[in-house]
Amino acid sequence: MQVIKTVKALQQYLAGKRGLHNTIGFVPTMGALHQGHLSLVNKSADEQDICVVSIFVNPTQFNDPKDLNQYPRMLEADCLKLKSTACDVVFAPDVKEIYPDGKSNQQIFDFAYLDHVYEGRHRPGHFKGVGQVVSRLLRIIQPNALYLGNKDYQQLLVIKQLVKRYLKLPIQVIGCPIVRENDGLAMSSRNMLLSPTQRKDASAIYNTLQLVKDKAESLSPEQLIQLAYQNLNKVKSIVKIEYFALIDAQTMHPVDEWNNQVEVRAITAVQMDHVRLIDNMQIN
Ligand code: PAJ
Repeated sequence: MQVIKTVKALQQYLAGKRGLHNTIGFVPTMGALHQGHLSLVNKSADEQDICVVSIFVNPTQFNDPKDLNQYPRMLEADCLKLKSTACDVVFAPDVKEIYPDGKSNQQIFDFAYLDHVYEGRHRPGHFKGVGQVVSRLLRIIQPNALYLGNKDYQQLLVIKQLVKRYLKLPIQVIGCPIVRENDGLAMSSRNMLLSPTQRKDASAIYNTLQLVKDKAESLSPEQLIQLAYQNLNKVKSIVKIEYFALIDAQTMHPVDEWNNQVEVRAITAVQMDHVRLIDNMQIN
């Protein structure tokens, strides 16, 4: 496994591989890797010849400077974890490599509705930053396939739109299952910022999603959302429920009545002190 820090060196390496007709799978990350990230790496390595993992804490997607400052950074430990997988290259650039013309001098993508609801609404500018960094990384790496987690479900839809509609690139975008801790909490780099009590309480997010799924046959969408709020409101460590919604999995429009033709997901974001946690689950 190679660790490469510059665009030039990465492109040289990839040109050699492409010349030998290898397919390239790409897993973008911000590091502090856990089994959720590693599941994407394993899937990419299973399906493509070469697996590239990027580790870059992208400053332009953080709407909250405190969140950016406290975001865990641990490149050495991450590389050790990746060594135990079939990852071929870790791309770990600094900010100047990714934004040589400055952070603000970037193409702006407008994700329309997706920019204004749920994550887009609660994190203004977040998806513009994600669009900037992912478009830059895709232009550098030019992968055949891009591996993303369903954990960040709205991000997955945004990036699909970016690839197909704006960049018009022939890249397969593959959404992968959410990997969870034993108590159901979705793995996240932010979980390590929780206190022991908050960490224990955080399993309520999964339990609520599961309860909503279990009751979906007998309750209306509105009743389910009420039930979810009741459940989450009981949890001491949750200081704010930003949203809990039932959405059409293709469009993210809210679902207010059942229709067997539509795949429905429950999505939620809550705050525990200064830590934001998101999760979702397919309901039908
Ligand atoms: P990051 O939060 O590091 O996540 C990298 C990838 O891992 C994303 O596709 C995310 O959905 C996936 N992932 C995170 N937790 C997961 C879990 N428990 N199970 C399965 N997959 C999981 O998302 C980002 O970084 C950034 O926004 C990025 C796309 C790299 C752009 O900067």
